[in-house]
Amino acid sequence: MIKIAVLTSGGDSPGMNAAIRGVVRRSIYNDIDVYGIYHGYHGLINNDIEKLEMGSVGDTIHRGGTILHTSRSEEFRTEKGQEQGAQNLKSLGIDGVVVIGGDGSFKGAEKLSQHGISVMGVPGTIDNDIPCTEMTVGFDTATNTVIEAIDRIRDTATSHERIFVIEVMGRDCGNIALWAGLAGGAESILIPEFEYDMDEVLDRLKQGYNRGKKHSIIVVAEGVSTGSELSEQIKEKSGLDTKVTVLGHVQRGGTPTAYDRMLGSRLGAKAVDLLLEGESNKMVGLNNNKITSVDLTEVFLEKEKVDYDLYELGKSLSI
Ligand code: F6P
Repeated sequence: MIKIAVLTSGGDSPGMNAAIRGVVRRSIYNDIDVYGIYHGYHGLINNDIEKLEMGSVGDTIHRGGTILHTSRSEEFRTEKGQEQGAQNLKSLGIDGVVVIGGDGSFKGAEKLSQHGISVMGVPGTIDNDIPCTEMTVGFDTATNTVIEAIDRIRDTATSHERIFVIEVMGRDCGNIALWAGLAGGAESILIPEFEYDMDEVLDRLKQGYNRGKKHSIIVVAEGVSTGSELSEQIKEKSGLDTKVTVLGHVQRGGTPTAYDRMLGSRLGAKAVDLLLEGESNKMVGLNNNKITSVDLTEVFLEKEKVDYDLYELGKSLSI
């Protein structure tokens, strides 16, 4: 192994820069040439690849987003795109690629490996929806962003004695809603993994109302319903003043927390170590506070990412 490249793909997440820095610095520390592939797989196909130096990642550890930019590339789903990408790497003598992203990005990595390139995945997404790791880079920051918003909304909800529906990201995975809802003391948390019962949501509101608690926070993951649809339904069925806030892409940006910087740094460096040991087709992850690695096939096989106990905890604490 003489040359390594790194790319970010899919939705960006805070801490990706720390992971890129981990890859770059660990490579240089080991006297390995390291390249940045810009704009994810799209850039790989278009040969948007540049050699990186120590300074390329200087002053980036605290920055949100990804200095390499990112994309969701349709072209890389095709055999032609994959072949072109692998060819571009081979012509630069690059034999290993670290892919920072989510499971779609890892599917791309697997394809790349079928064209003779060693690959290592680093889980980077705000959704925390990747199996075989307890945390993904960016989830902690995004959850803290949501909690800050909930706290602010609670102030005005209390003053005006209103119900607020807060829509958060998570098309298929409810971890942001669940963690932020729990830590933010939401009255109801609706996530895609479990069907919700509108009567139960209304009962909770009414019980609170009868006890004199006239404000409520309902956190809904975008994969369940839009905030406005849910808020309209609640308004209609309860007759209570209901407002909606959609947090949207605010959740994807911002300064990464210390946790995400640490996680990104640890995972990025480990990905390089494994490539140097001749490993491929794996994902590095965090389990019991140790950096681990697992075959990508295992990551693709597992489905469950939401902890049912946490969901139950949320229900029992928001009575
Ligand atoms: O995968 C991260 C994520 O932020 C999801 O939570 C969200 O559903 C999706 O990306 C939004 O993607 P885009 O920014 O492409 O609209």
